[in-house]
Amino acid sequence: MTDKKTPLILVSNRGPVTYGPDGMHRGGGGLVTALIGLASHREAIWVASAITDEDAEVASEHGGQAFEIDGEDGNSYSIRFVSSDPDAYDRFYNIFANPMLWFIQHYLWDLSNAPDIHRHEVDAFELGYKAVNADLAGAVLDEIEAIKDPVVMVHDYHLYTLPAVVRKARPEVFLHHFVHIPWPQPDAWRVLPKAIRDEIYKGILANDIVGLHTHTYRQNFLQCCRDLTAYEVDFGRSIVHVDGREVWVRAYPLPIDWRATQSLGSRPRVAQFEVELDHRKREFLILRVDRADLSKNVLRGFSAFDMFLEQHPEFSERVTFRAQLMPSRTDVPEYAEYLERIEALVATVNHRHGTPDWMPIQLILRDDLDEAVAAYKRYDVLMVNAMFDGMNLVAKEGPLVNECDGVSILSENTGAHEELGEFALSVNPFDIQEMADSIYTALTMDPAERARRAAGLKEIVTSRDPGNWIDEQLLDIRAKAAAQGRVSPA
Ligand code: G6P
Repeated sequence: MTDKKTPLILVSNRGPVTYGPDGMHRGGGGLVTALIGLASHREAIWVASAITDEDAEVASEHGGQAFEIDGEDGNSYSIRFVSSDPDAYDRFYNIFANPMLWFIQHYLWDLSNAPDIHRHEVDAFELGYKAVNADLAGAVLDEIEAIKDPVVMVHDYHLYTLPAVVRKARPEVFLHHFVHIPWPQPDAWRVLPKAIRDEIYKGILANDIVGLHTHTYRQNFLQCCRDLTAYEVDFGRSIVHVDGREVWVRAYPLPIDWRATQSLGSRPRVAQFEVELDHRKREFLILRVDRADLSKNVLRGFSAFDMFLEQHPEFSERVTFRAQLMPSRTDVPEYAEYLERIEALVATVNHRHGTPDWMPIQLILRDDLDEAVAAYKRYDVLMVNAMFDGMNLVAKEGPLVNECDGVSILSENTGAHEELGEFALSVNPFDIQEMADSIYTALTMDPAERARRAAGLKEIVTSRDPGNWIDEQLLDIRAKAAAQGRVSPA
């Protein structure tokens, strides 16, 4: 347990909230969902980038120091926004973290076409990625200055070079780094020039513990260390030996805060959306809820629906595919172009199969949690067909909230599949015919079988919560600190 004098320091690019011209919003994506409980329930200071101009204003109003905020969900957090040079931040976020690292770790590069590595990309690493990492590291060092045996929890792919900076200044610090996205096999990393790759591995191996969502990613991480670095890897103990230190590599699958998610279902605004949904609903509703990210495989999901309608005309006018997509990283050209391709394909499928009375695909491009929760309650089929996905929390939130014994179609390449695969219809996300067949199977499934699967999913989702996830990590932190002869730091 932490006491008042030894708060945990969390550090991530995106913080729990972000400010815009119209005020404060909750940060999007799985990382924020994962950490919000930790930040509000434990003594913790969350160090994050000032992402918008308004974040930077709020940061400077607080003299760059930590301050308390009350989140929309009624919890309060202690947060410290760090402003970086805008040009450095642009290079960090829009070139190096996204798309470069994100695409490497989700196998998204179409290697015969991209990426080309020029000075532009190398500079984005040197002058952008490392600079922002150093800025955040500076704030972390400031926060732990007066703390004896500090514990810093670093999050995600934006911050691979930060741990080495912190370690150098405070050799005794305990650094725990959780990566929320897949860890790919060694060759995926060979896209990066060796000097950059070496710095990334040196950075992440400056941690005491590296946490990943699944056993597969853990294994990949160890293989990468064996093949891409000179360090010795102990596969049996899941440890990398780095300059006399041990780096523990562990899997901690992320649960959702299912009680909080469930309680969202009773919000009045959710009920309003439900009324609208019921009004429009055909016999069946297929749902997907995602950031508009290439890894989510939205296009193949629509192609599968197209094929299903072609092969099963008896479902004409009986089913709607509702896709709620949150525009994401729109300054990155690959993402902007992806949104355009999504809109074009929706228009094609709707034109091909639609009737004056029926639009097969309903595309909703906005981030509205209440609207998503209402749709979660009502779907018959949930489509989660990501090409690769660290965990995928929609695959957990949907079945928890759903009231219609909805069937999950789940990509075998999501982290969630390791836990939920048994009760879902597993699909290969590249196999369009298989996804089309799964839509048919789901829509024609015997009610008792639907109920059995839905109950199985709910049971798994409610068996752990983020408190367990954090406790598992703190247990390892304590065990490793004890093995090093240190007092319990967390
Ligand atoms: C994923 C990543 C997070 C990221 C989130 C939203 O969940 O793992 O690190 O914050 O996507 O993406 P964004 O670029 O908007 O922060």
